[in-house]
Amino acid sequence: MKGLILAGGLGTRLRPLTYSGSKQLIPVANKPVLFYGIEDLKEAGIRDIGIIVGYTDERVQFIKDAVGDGSRWGVKITYIRQDAPRGLAHAVTTARDFIGGDDFVVYLGDNILNKGISSFAEEFRNSDMDASILVTQVEHPEIYGVAMIGDNREIIEIEEKPENPKSNYAIVGVYFFRSSIFEAIKKIKPGKGGELELTDAIHELVVSDKHRVNAHVVKGWWDDTGTAEAVLRANHLVLTDLKAKREGIVEEGVRLIGNVALGKNTIIKAGTLIRGPVIIGKDCQIGPTYLGPYTSIGDNCVIRGGEIESSIIIGDTHINLEANKRIVDSLIGRHTIINSARETLPSGCKLVLGENSEVQI
Ligand code: G1P
Repeated sequence: MKGLILAGGLGTRLRPLTYSGSKQLIPVANKPVLFYGIEDLKEAGIRDIGIIVGYTDERVQFIKDAVGDGSRWGVKITYIRQDAPRGLAHAVTTARDFIGGDDFVVYLGDNILNKGISSFAEEFRNSDMDASILVTQVEHPEIYGVAMIGDNREIIEIEEKPENPKSNYAIVGVYFFRSSIFEAIKKIKPGKGGELELTDAIHELVVSDKHRVNAHVVKGWWDDTGTAEAVLRANHLVLTDLKAKREGIVEEGVRLIGNVALGKNTIIKAGTLIRGPVIIGKDCQIGPTYLGPYTSIGDNCVIRGGEIESSIIIGDTHINLEANKRIVDSLIGRHTIINSARETLPSGCKLVLGENSEVQI
């Protein structure tokens, strides 16, 4: 079985971060979202992985620089370029030569699953289903693909972002296919957004081609990191399982409560209070300050004063705050400088900042 990760999207809902990078490379608990997908595929015994990238040389290079040839994970990565954002089904067709006649898993590069996909891959390998999808119950199914499931978990109907969803089973971004999907894709037309939808191709498989497709309900949590809010939510979920690690230097007079992971050459200065789960990368200088639960701080950050909680500071950032300033629920891009201003602002700033931003708060 081969793996196909779709990482071509423009990530418009994550601008400005996606002007200067790819949404699949935004780190959750200091690891790019895309890496979670590669690791899940590897764990499911898949070694031959294609990554769909698009659409400009610069965007393609972001992904290539971060992932390389896959040897770090013991997998082989093949890059496949999609010429324009023409939809998930179009992206899959672009990989026709790479897939050949093999069965394959499509994994959307912005998805994170808590319990991986090994058991689902195993079941698909041994089943006679033509396709298999993952689903989960959600409160607002209308913002996802929605599946109606019948006996034996077989799909009866499937729709992309319906106004009136017929079930609350959202389609999770992991799909198991055989080559029959390519014929189904040929028959579909672009949907409301002008893109070829994978959901419509699965509908074609079930309704016109009378093929059998079943659904698995994911175990544990799942998130689609398409918005800043969702990235922060995924960060909470991943950090919940964080293990404490102490590679940095902790000065006397520091209080570390709960699980705190510190990278190499990171110094935590006297007078700092960190209440985990908190992960801090390498080469950082932290404190004196307060870092609260569900905070991820990437490499090369200097943070002094104030308080930061439930936030992601991607890396290479300087933050220097007065004692009463608090940053909460924020997603901060690289090369950002945040300094205190004299004016008093309400506490609890909410920020989504792109790279090279400079803000005074
Ligand atoms: C895509 C699919 C949708 C699926 C979702 C899961 O939507 O089209 O069916 O439920 O991924 O992440 P998008 O996130 O591209 O809007």
